[in-house]
Amino acid sequence: MKHDAIAVVDFGGQYAHLIANKIRRQHVLAEIRQPEDATDVFARYKGIVLSGSPSLSSFGEDSAYNKRIYDLPVPILGLCFGHQEIAKHYGGTVIHGGREWGRADMHIVREHPLFKGLGPVERVWMSHFDSVVDVGPGFEELGYTELGETGARHKFAAIGSDTLRRYGFQYHAEVDDTEHGDEMLANFVLDICGCRPSWTMDRYLDEQVEHVRRQVGERSVFLLASGGVDSTVAAKLFGLAIGSDRLHLLHVDNGLMRKDESRSVVAMLEALGLGRSVHFVDASATFLASLRGVVEPEQKRQIIGGTFIEVFEQEAKRLSLEQHLLGQGTIYPDTIETGGTRRADVIKTHHNRVPAVERMIAEGRVVEPLADLYKVEVRELGEKLGIPHELVWRHPFPGPGLGVRVLCSAGAEDREGFDRIEPRVAEIGRRYGLSTLALPIRSVGVKADLRAYEHPVMVSGEATWERLLEAAGTMFKEVPGINRCVWNLAPSAPRQARPLPATITPARLDLLREADHVVTGLLQRHGLYDRIWQCPTVLVPLALDGAGSELIVVRPVHSERAMTATPASLPAALIAELRARILPLPGVGGLALDLTTKPPGTIEWE
Ligand code: XMP
Repeated sequence: MKHDAIAVVDFGGQYAHLIANKIRRQHVLAEIRQPEDATDVFARYKGIVLSGSPSLSSFGEDSAYNKRIYDLPVPILGLCFGHQEIAKHYGGTVIHGGREWGRADMHIVREHPLFKGLGPVERVWMSHFDSVVDVGPGFEELGYTELGETGARHKFAAIGSDTLRRYGFQYHAEVDDTEHGDEMLANFVLDICGCRPSWTMDRYLDEQVEHVRRQVGERSVFLLASGGVDSTVAAKLFGLAIGSDRLHLLHVDNGLMRKDESRSVVAMLEALGLGRSVHFVDASATFLASLRGVVEPEQKRQIIGGTFIEVFEQEAKRLSLEQHLLGQGTIYPDTIETGGTRRADVIKTHHNRVPAVERMIAEGRVVEPLADLYKVEVRELGEKLGIPHELVWRHPFPGPGLGVRVLCSAGAEDREGFDRIEPRVAEIGRRYGLSTLALPIRSVGVKADLRAYEHPVMVSGEATWERLLEAAGTMFKEVPGINRCVWNLAPSAPRQARPLPATITPARLDLLREADHVVTGLLQRHGLYDRIWQCPTVLVPLALDGAGSELIVVRPVHSERAMTATPASLPAALIAELRARILPLPGVGGLALDLTTKPPGTIEWE
């Protein structure tokens, strides 16, 4: 069946995904759209939500979007930046000023369908520099907030025109801190747009089963199965759709897996009875040979993704699999992030979206039944399909595996901007009683939705977790050129750091595997594995204070959709065990805990 759907216009990645996710929880399909998409694309939807943005509406930033959407006869709701754009478009005024930050109480002016079922005062979450100070003809104020101690009214927290069916919230209804944000979004999509809540996981499953059957026809599916939740759920779904006889699983050991992982993945896939046969190929030599001497992160990702396809084609030939499609467990963010639109800067190439795969997609040779789902939804589907809990809730592991956690370097110091960076981070460090060291390497991050390849800073000293995070946050805010901050866990504060020439080698991979094994084991033993979303362990080719050995960074994060993340704190006892077990590993000269939120850092370092 065709579902009623909402277009979420993406003026800034993280907000848009959050909005889409929240709307989907109301069982209404929400899809991310780019502001410059064609009008007839938007005409397919029953309503439109304009997201927030890092841009400033008052300065006319990001204003070159498709304004024809305002001519469409469907309701439009703007959030934050979107709210200001709606006000402006219909003759209102937006100024740079009237900033609000954090929680605010919104007084609702009159009963309105948008606030159905809510009280007269609602707790909302604000984060804006610009404000609407006047609305155009036909618009009215639906809510206002009061400004802290002065008690002055801050007008136009919510606005609307019932005739035009255009609405705006200055606050972020999509974040959990807006207490009844879900209800407000539900009121918009269900009552004002009139969407039928038909998009349930049961329906999704039925539709995908049908879709896979149609796409595959008489052919078979050859699925790359990493053992992660996405490909395992995809395997189960393929089994339902075409039966296990025509489903072949291929697990590739690319030499970049965790300790003993390939062996247990193959056993797990066999035990689940997915597919007629589980093929295994140890292609580590091929992968490592193609990565030899490579240092640049994007190049590594491209090589790993491309080699997967080469190995896949070889195996298909060897097994005489004719008439097959490549099955992948690609999920929605992978697709969107490689959208190649103006805003979707290539932050990093996902292994399942390298050119070889794109070519196969264009030829209709790829089948990806989860490509519309977010991770939380894949997990929900996995539980529905009866996949065991520990598999559904395994920490996500990137397709390129440890390849993006073994950092490489040509050995040259990269101190660009250090004249400016060093004194400023030192000054901030002093405010928090911490010593600082800017690191002469770079790691990938994301700032204002653009790829940022910048320097990390190491802080040393004792402080509470909250103070450490605050110090890191202050550096990100005040010092350009910094996108990551780590907390030194070794006994003494390093005074200098020197990059070591390093590429991906079996010895470095073994070292990282061991460190990763220790970290995962400790998280499990301390009962934290299920409470943390993901915990990459990263090998950084940096020698601290002249030691010839490398730095290990542990990066535990909380996240829901991987589009944003916050660092997770670890108990002191666990940190003590980390020190005791990782620092003595041969080849390790330093240990640190990552304090970086996403943005400005990504979860992975590359
Ligand atoms: P970042 O580092 O961008 O990662 O914050 C977000 C999430 O995506 C995972 N990740 C990948 N997953 N193929 C994948 O299947 C990839 O190429 C890839 N790169 C990053 C990462 O581990 C995190 O969970």
